Amino acid sequence: MIISQLEDIEKVAKINEGKNLKYSILTMGCQQNENDSEKLSGIIEKMHYTKTENLSESDLIVFNTCCVRENAEDRLFGKLGEVKKYKEEKGTIIAIGGCMMQEKHIVEKLKESYPFFDIVFGTHTLHKFPTDLLEILSNRKRIEDILDIDGEVIEGLPIKRDDNIKASVTIMNGCNNFCSYCIVPYVRGRERSRLPKDILEEIKGLAKDGYKEITLLGQNVNSYLRVEREQNKTFEEYEGVNSFATLLRAINKIDGIERIRFISPHPKDFTDDVIEAIRDCNKVCKLIHLPLQSGSTNVLKVMNRKYTKEQYLNLVEKMRNTIPNVTFSTDIIVGFPGETEEDFVDTLDVVKKVNFEQVYMFIYSRRVGTPGDKMENQIPEEIKHERFNRLKELVESQIAVRNKEYVGTTQTVLIEGKSKTNEQMLTGRTDSNKVVVLEAKEDLIGKMANLKIVSEHMWYLKGKVI
Ligand code: SAH
Ligand code: SF4
Ligand code: F3S
Repeated sequence: MIISQLEDIEKVAKINEGKNLKYSILTMGCQQNENDSEKLSGIIEKMHYTKTENLSESDLIVFNTCCVRENAEDRLFGKLGEVKKYKEEKGTIIAIGGCMMQEKHIVEKLKESYPFFDIVFGTHTLHKFPTDLLEILSNRKRIEDILDIDGEVIEGLPIKRDDNIKASVTIMNGCNNFCSYCIVPYVRGRERSRLPKDILEEIKGLAKDGYKEITLLGQNVNSYLRVEREQNKTFEEYEGVNSFATLLRAINKIDGIERIRFISPHPKDFTDDVIEAIRDCNKVCKLIHLPLQSGSTNVLKVMNRKYTKEQYLNLVEKMRNTIPNVTFSTDIIVGFPGETEEDFVDTLDVVKKVNFEQVYMFIYSRRVGTPGDKMENQIPEEIKHERFNRLKELVESQIAVRNKEYVGTTQTVLIEGKSKTNEQMLTGRTDSNKVVVLEAKEDLIGKMANLKIVSEHMWYLKGKVI
């Protein structure tokens, strides 16, 4: 962390001391966005704000935005309409950050239609939040703090984690893939990896604090350190780590950590060393998130995904042959420009063949500035929805069958806490990320338990301790 920012944290903390101030943070995006919110929360709490879910009692409201699909934008504008009255009534400080703030047309729209905000900050300036806040507290001028260039990797930010059993660790920022539908490379900048030492020390610290499960985050985790290697940048190896596969192997050795997950890898970068590391590392979960996006080779080409339907299926086959008990989850977009009925049937075909554990389904959403938005053969809304429903039906029927197959099996489950819907029950997840609820004493929380699955429901299983 940069010294001046630490000093500004101190300065704001002094101004705020004894005032019993509260803050809310609204996190609107993916797990990396959530991880950024944990860092923001860490910074904000050091400046003497305590967290509240209640917007009306907040002195500071922070929006951490997402722009990957249109509905994420709609949510921000809806919420801003709601918080305007708090600003007017009690002068609540409104700060808006995250991916959407890297889009110029959005910041223009904010200035025009929601001019009451105090701070906007981008994905590369999160660490400067204390400085921005200090200025607002000192002379209350509106601040736009957005950088177009790629931010450096900033280490040493305070962090306030949402959970005490599972933790996310960002291993790389940005994306170099430019899939033609996707806004992320434009708002998160170019790929840059954190140093092995920083990652491993963070995870060792988490293990000491009692964390059991680590999720490694990045837009393309299996190209970890690739850019650095390709550009012959010198970086310090640590415990033999110089790639994603060696990183997995090093984390697997950390005592106390029981499970390792990662999102998202890219199928094109799934090299044999990564597949072998997953096979060899007992703590790496055997559910692999392998984003498909489309099952049609034609569509994949226009999407700039750099693999064909056959290559994807071959990769799945290779992993099935190498990694015992491997399962898959995926992301699929329906209604990408030019997608024909035959293309869509190819997607259904891959879904049938792979029999995913879980499918995150999205309707294509046009994003300003991406090649997809400029394509002329956009698919009418009703066709997109009709295809989405057909895919959903297929996926749900597969999940129903899979759920039945779980009944009677023994599963190792990490018990995560009390069930949100029923205080009497505990909840946890299998290696394959299935939710399992069970009746058991609270002292099982944070432990791995062997459970017999006794019944199945659409979105969860029921288990019994054996
Ligand atoms: N880097 C990750 C995650 C990207 S965003 C990856 O490549 O898998 C998460 C998901 O949102 C993507 O996998 C994709 O399925 C979906 N998505 C991205 N842009 C989209 C768009 N314009 N419309 C609909 N879905 C989109
Ligand atoms: Fe977007 Fe593709 Fe990068 Fe994922 S890999 S963030 S989908 S451009
Ligand atoms: Fe994540 Fe949304 Fe940004 S998906 S990377 S928060 S655009």
